[in-house]
Amino acid sequence: MSISKRLFSRAAAGLAPAALALALLPGLMLSAQNQKPSPRQQAQARARARAKWLQARARYLAQLRARERREAQLAPAPPMGWNSWNHFHRRITGKIVRQIADAMVSSGMKAAGYTYINIDDTWEGQRDAQGNIQPNAKFGDMKALADYVHSKGLKLGIYSSPGPFTCAGYAGSYRHEAQDARTYAAWGIDYLKYDWCSASRVYKLQQLPQVYLKMYRALKATGRPIVFSLCEYGLLDPWHFGPFVGGNLWRTTGDINDTWKRMSAIGFNQSYLAPYAAPGHWNDPDMLEVGNGGMTDTEYRTHMSLWAMLAAPLIAGNDLRHMSRAALAILTNRDVIAVDQDRLGRQGYRVWRSGRKLDQDREIWMKPLAGGAVAVALFNRGSKAAAITVHWSQLGLQPPLRARNLWTHKNLRLPRPTFTATVPSHGVILLRVKE
Ligand code: GLA
Repeated sequence: MSISKRLFSRAAAGLAPAALALALLPGLMLSAQNQKPSPRQQAQARARARAKWLQARARYLAQLRARERREAQLAPAPPMGWNSWNHFHRRITGKIVRQIADAMVSSGMKAAGYTYINIDDTWEGQRDAQGNIQPNAKFGDMKALADYVHSKGLKLGIYSSPGPFTCAGYAGSYRHEAQDARTYAAWGIDYLKYDWCSASRVYKLQQLPQVYLKMYRALKATGRPIVFSLCEYGLLDPWHFGPFVGGNLWRTTGDINDTWKRMSAIGFNQSYLAPYAAPGHWNDPDMLEVGNGGMTDTEYRTHMSLWAMLAAPLIAGNDLRHMSRAALAILTNRDVIAVDQDRLGRQGYRVWRSGRKLDQDREIWMKPLAGGAVAVALFNRGSKAAAITVHWSQLGLQPPLRARNLWTHKNLRLPRPTFTATVPSHGVILLRVKE
């Protein structure tokens, strides 16, 4: 009974053949003479139905495994790149995208692992007579733009909505899903952010997974590997259905902005999502604001550390053409990036917090890393510097420990059962620890 229940629930997501459930129903198997079948005939019918069911299940699991492999190859670690929205909003143009690609290389961002150049909303123009989407005049020839980005050893991302309009009111992919997927593939697009927006006008919320599955299938049918980024702001708990609709990453919240208040409210609220991150599938607490000017360097270091602890996609959102040394140093800190990109693919989580008043909170987070190491972050969300003490036994660690401070790049030996450090207001101490 529990098996058929599971089948039905998957069928609701549009993934399992409905015939499986039918084959399981006893009583459907009638004898040729339409007489009551003998017990022996009934047993044979049940055995046949079961064999059929097992075959179908094996096929289904093989498909799932193939998809898991495909997705793990597409996004083995949280995607790293840049996106136009946080800094440029509607002001993005094809020319700026080219300049950003240049800056990605010349600044050292590419060498640090940033790969995707993602165009967000407002690139869209009209559809032609055949319904093919055209870029608007600010972008011109998309294929040429993709060729340019590829010539730098980078990848190009684009943006659309399953609804008739994007959030900024441009053309969405509604009723053009397969056609748009083919267009993106023909241009050489490598990443699609698919943003719910006006889809709520044409679909019920419960249809959301199928709507995303439709675009996933369209992308897959093109044969081009395209990272699939779900953006529905956490509306329907995408961490539950994301992997089943081909999502490589899914937004877990509404939009970030360049303030300590918003960044910290999002970042520190992600601990409960730790079980859902894995190679191929990542929780996405939205793009980085580092370098956009609304936070201090200390706060940006906390932002970067928190995103690394969360195994979050590292999608820079600043103007790479004009970066302060501090912003560049934060974004390209190899030690911190290594925590984010660690091949174990586990998200970090909170292990201790000082109290319930947010402005006084001190928090300790840990993230298991490959090879038995652990990243440990001491965060001070309060408005004054504060001492934070880690009890290693609470993290399952046995001193003496070897540690590296990932912002000062100094190695430490930690022989005692506890470690106490003074952490500046809104600051962090980030360690990589090993027994
Ligand atoms: C939504 C998304 C943002 C951005 C804008 C563009 O708000 O959450 O990340 O893509 O749309 O219009």
